[in-house]
Amino acid sequence: FVETGTIAIKVIFTFANMKNSIVIAIDGGSSCGKSTLAKALAKNLNYTYIDTGAMYRAVTHFLQQQGVKPNDIDRVESLLDSINISFANVEGENHTFLNGSDVEKEIRTMKVAGQVSEVAAIPRVRHFLVEQQRAIGRERGVVMDGRDIGTVVFPDAELKIFLTANLEIRARRRFLEMQQKGTQVGFEEVRDNLSKRDLIDSGRTMSPLKPAKDAILIDTTDLNIRQLLDQAMGLVAQITEKTAG
Ligand code: DC
Repeated sequence: FVETGTIAIKVIFTFANMKNSIVIAIDGGSSCGKSTLAKALAKNLNYTYIDTGAMYRAVTHFLQQQGVKPNDIDRVESLLDSINISFANVEGENHTFLNGSDVEKEIRTMKVAGQVSEVAAIPRVRHFLVEQQRAIGRERGVVMDGRDIGTVVFPDAELKIFLTANLEIRARRRFLEMQQKGTQVGFEEVRDNLSKRDLIDSGRTMSPLKPAKDAILIDTTDLNIRQLLDQAMGLVAQITEKTAG
């Protein structure tokens, strides 16, 4: 009886969870606070967090290891099948794995940041990664951040948030983050890379960076993480109440 009861409770619990679990898409330019918000939301809601930028960075790192330039499209495309990307929790942090190796540190370098937008503009690379992102989202209970999550990956996501922020603030945040991680880099190099990537990401033909029509825009320039998280949790509550009722 106890066992049956436990199973019944589990089934009810899972059903209730499924009913209220949604897909949250967070898009925006580089360093607007997407990953900080996405991680905090995932922790609060006990959802899976997927950093899609890390996937484009992992592909870029792989190509650099192989000595392949992003403009060598044929070679890039022929190598995609040898790339396996996964995520795992390492000491409480979400780490990216490339073919079984932890590459979290390598994918955050300026070397990768300098080429990732070019790689992310290649249509076959996008198809390859979007398919994997959609497979993860089928589980629901997912917070995914990127550039095209609300427009292309999950156009039916229950909640779409698009973040913006002033360039100087974003560059300062990214610069401090890199300094804290011990990366030697100049402020101007960081700022120039952000604005250059935004230009390429917004100007590409396939899945350019732009808000979905039904996205909620939040300017994070003057917000701290607590304020941003509170706003986002308010939006989640509105949506889960609606889907539950
Ligand atoms: O979020 P990030 O800075 O780690 O992303 C790195 C690059 O990957 C970014 O400059 C554009 C690209 N990207 C993309 O094109 N689509 C996504 N969904 C996520 C990232």
